[in-house]
Amino acid sequence: MKRRTFFQQIIKYTSLSGLSLLTFLGLFPELINQKKSIRKVILGKASDLFSSSKAIVRKVHDETVILLQKQTGDIEAFNAKCTHAGCMVEWKETQHAFLCKCHGGIFNEKGDPIAGPPKKPLTKIQVDIRISSDEIILYLDDKSV
Ligand code: FES
Repeated sequence: MKRRTFFQQIIKYTSLSGLSLLTFLGLFPELINQKKSIRKVILGKASDLFSSSKAIVRKVHDETVILLQKQTGDIEAFNAKCTHAGCMVEWKETQHAFLCKCHGGIFNEKGDPIAGPPKKPLTKIQVDIRISSDEIILYLDDKSV
């Protein structure tokens, strides 16, 4: 093999490898975006926050979060932004659902769409209760807010 041909072959295969790698990463973008920033927000004591209502609304990092205390006592948190066009949903205890006034979207207590135009569930936010102090902690990542 001539020297010139040898170098042409190296360039060709290196280019193909690079394209293959880019294609692979394009198919699995989470491999590139593994660096996730998680923000921890302490909201307060669960017993204080839920003393008068089963659902509370809080502004957290410029986003509206709805915390819902279920009949089991479990607490779930959702980004209040409707997944249809971004209006704010509200929890309606009488209907036991989240309602969006913009286009009539309805979500059940799990955040799943059950009526109207929304197709995707409400964005859940990881929530924990610190047992020792009864404090509610939200863990916000880039996808949740
Ligand atoms: S923005 Fe909520 S139903 Fe359209």
